[in-house]
Amino acid sequence: MELLLKLLSIWCLVGLTVSQDMPYEEYIAQIQACPKECRCPPNFPRAVYCDNKNLKNIPKIPPYTWYLYLQSNMIEVLSADALQNATQLRWLNLNRNKITSEGVEEGVLGAMTHLLHLYMDDNLLSSVPSQLPASLEHLRLSRNRISKIPAGVFIGLDKLTLLDLQGNKLMDDSVTEVSLKGLNNLVQINLAKNQLSTMPLGLPPSTTQLFLDGNNIEKIPPGYFKGLPKVAFLRLNHNKLASSGVPKNVFNISSILDLQLSHNQLTDVPLIPSGLEHLHLDHNKIKTVSGSGVCPVSVEDLGDSLNESAPRLRYLRLDGNEIQPPIPRDVITCFRLLRSIVI
Ligand SMILES: *[C@@H]1O[C@H](CO)[C@@H](O)[C@H](O)[C@H]1NC(C)=O
Ligand SMILES: *[C@@H]1O[C@H](CO)[C@@H](O)[C@H](O)[C@H]1NC(C)=O
Ligand SMILES: *[C@@H]1O[C@H](CO)[C@@H](O)[C@H](O)[C@H]1NC(C)=O
Repeated sequence: MELLLKLLSIWCLVGLTVSQDMPYEEYIAQIQACPKECRCPPNFPRAVYCDNKNLKNIPKIPPYTWYLYLQSNMIEVLSADALQNATQLRWLNLNRNKITSEGVEEGVLGAMTHLLHLYMDDNLLSSVPSQLPASLEHLRLSRNRISKIPAGVFIGLDKLTLLDLQGNKLMDDSVTEVSLKGLNNLVQINLAKNQLSTMPLGLPPSTTQLFLDGNNIEKIPPGYFKGLPKVAFLRLNHNKLASSGVPKNVFNISSILDLQLSHNQLTDVPLIPSGLEHLHLDHNKIKTVSGSGVCPVSVEDLGDSLNESAPRLRYLRLDGNEIQPPIPRDVITCFRLLRSIVI
């Protein structure tokens, strides 16, 4: 009796979630159309799992699918035919396949007018796919062989907040003033591990997180960040920045919280903005650090009080440089909130 009750209540629960999620006829149609290669959990009928199946081709995807998992297969072609009815997709995971740019069939992505997340990491794309749907919020294309961003490819992508292009073959002339046009609400852009030797042009002013680690960047033009008034997280680890290529106050950005410049060739500490909380300067060629040189306010003016304008630095890494301890007193006097300093 107890078991029966339990079963009954589970059945009701399933029934409830299903009816809230989709009408009964759609539910039945969806379950019946589940491709034999895939798994369609009855209690999560909008999801179709076809990952890790050695698939060479995408099976026919049922019409009421919202979440489609096709990662870790051998898929070469993003087939418009197989995806003909998959126009309701919210989430499409194609990571770790063998899709080339030629394999992305005409119009296949554009037809997915509800798509929010598109993941195509670890494929063989040579350029950013065209005809992306305007609904897209996250686009992940890391570790392909992308060397081209077709002109205007992001026009209309007003909702895109995250663009991940790390581990590709982008060079300076592939990220021009017009390349990212249209990304009016971009928050995070990851261009790490490409082949950039200058700072990318045309980043949207909405950019908050900018990741450029592992390129060959040698210098930063004066005032570069004037066009990026919201930048808060900036990573430039593993580049070729020397102090001669970094204007002393280029990082004096009021929005910045976290600045990472590890593994470069800096000989001087740049001016540390008042609002900065985390600074990584380890593995450079810095010989000395002095409070009077790096403090954003005058050390004498600071007095004993801790007020609004006091520098906010809490974490500082300076290890792997040529600095002889101890850290000068005026550095400690300047950065009163420092909790941790690695040397
Ligand atoms: C798409 O839906 C139509 C109408 O239900 C059906 O005839 C067709 O076979 C479906 N195509 C695919 C690829 O599932
Ligand atoms: C840094 O920026 C602040 C305003 O954000 C400004 O008052 C200050 O003079 C700047 N310092 C330097 C050295 O450029
Ligand atoms: C806050 O500190 C600054 C120096 O950092 C000083 O110029 C200013 O007068 C102080 N303001 C207050 C309200 O104490």
